[in-house]
Amino acid sequence: MERIRIIDSKKHVGEVVTIAGWIANKRSSGKIAFLQIRDGSAFFQGVVVKNEVGEEVFDLAKSLNQETSVIITGEIREDTRSKFGYEIGVQGIEVVGESHDYPITPKEHGTDFLMDHRHLWLRSSRQHAIMQIRNEMIRATYEFFNTRGFIKIDPPILTSSAPEGTTELFHTDYFGEEAYLSQTGQLYLEAAAMAFGKVFSFGPTFRAEKSKTRRHLTEFWMMEPEMAFVKHDESLEIQEQYVAFMIECVLENCDYALDVLGRDKDLLKSYTELPYPRISYDDAVTLLQENGFEDIEWDDDFGSPHETFIANHFSKPVFILNFPKSMSPFYMKPHPDRDDVVIRADMIAPEGYGEIIGGSERAIGYDYLMEQLEKDQLNYDDYAWYLDLNKYGPVPHSGFGLGLERAVTWVSGIEHVREASPFPRLLHRIYP
Ligand code: 4AD
Ligand code: MG
Repeated sequence: MERIRIIDSKKHVGEVVTIAGWIANKRSSGKIAFLQIRDGSAFFQGVVVKNEVGEEVFDLAKSLNQETSVIITGEIREDTRSKFGYEIGVQGIEVVGESHDYPITPKEHGTDFLMDHRHLWLRSSRQHAIMQIRNEMIRATYEFFNTRGFIKIDPPILTSSAPEGTTELFHTDYFGEEAYLSQTGQLYLEAAAMAFGKVFSFGPTFRAEKSKTRRHLTEFWMMEPEMAFVKHDESLEIQEQYVAFMIECVLENCDYALDVLGRDKDLLKSYTELPYPRISYDDAVTLLQENGFEDIEWDDDFGSPHETFIANHFSKPVFILNFPKSMSPFYMKPHPDRDDVVIRADMIAPEGYGEIIGGSERAIGYDYLMEQLEKDQLNYDDYAWYLDLNKYGPVPHSGFGLGLERAVTWVSGIEHVREASPFPRLLHRIYP
């Protein structure tokens, strides 16, 4: 008998097959039991009818505890009453491993309790849907960049540089020398772009963020492309095409997951229409001041209410351009006509999800970069290699970083970034 995955039920209607999985839930009345079965690919219902299977199998079905692992034999049928559309008419049940007092029951649990049981919470249908969407966005990322001539470069995680500022670093001892967990692979990717033209990285990055918000993780995955001979306007076009492509792929391949999460698919579809609006930092400040945010001043960082207002104003992802130099990292290209702003853009997601991409055109010029290092009190010896790039054929180049978990949180339409990571690392949370 063929072992199939629940997700492939459609291809096996009318066949007798086996499913290897776990009992997610169960209810029974006198002569019929309904088993909610999950096998990692999807969830569906197993129907056990006493008159068909006999007393022994029926009693076994009724005795199964939540999360008992089983191999079920039965016939795949259409089930028009369920969202999934298929069920299995159970003929036989083999118990593989028992389960006792599974702590996560179908009733409501508090967030701390669920976070303490993250290793088990991952088994729920909601978490399953979110991880499917995350997986699809990762797959789409590779497809998007691989089909556009980018090559994947893996920057180091242990590093001596701190391009995004020195306040949020995880320090570690590297054989007596100070090292950090990487905040971004960017500087290494710039070196790689000078070697390979178009590169991208996709890996974990770390920020010792002291902020306890629904957008901040201390460990998150960043997708970072870097492109030689590409000016910032072209980079913005790639950013919006990339985001729209990820959403198209999720709409196409994660229909069921979006239904489980109750995500508005028409709204998601509207985010695939390009271009995304662009607004300058200057105009964004004016817009905020004219709309009740009187105390925001030019040179202030935007907080989450400001970002939410701007994004809602456009009901689309929006680029904010040309930020003040004073609040931007040292590596950003100064504006050609103004010395107070840099060629940077943040992409703000709609619906209050905040910044999902930070990007810029990169500064070139040995002397300029030397000055910036000094101004930021960064140690020349740690960046000598980076400055070398300016001695041997420097070219205009641009890049950006998309925070995977923030993007997944938005596309999934969930409340908090912690559910977009399988084992999230947050302020005061490193267990499990
Ligand atoms: O804006 P950031 O700090 O940009 C960089 O690190 C650049 N060096 C990237 C580049 O140009 N190659 O971070 C990029 C993105 C943010 O827009 C956000 O989506 C995400 O990373 N991010 C976080 N996500 C979760 N938790 C945090 N603490 C995050 N900090 C940044
Ligand atoms: Mg940023």
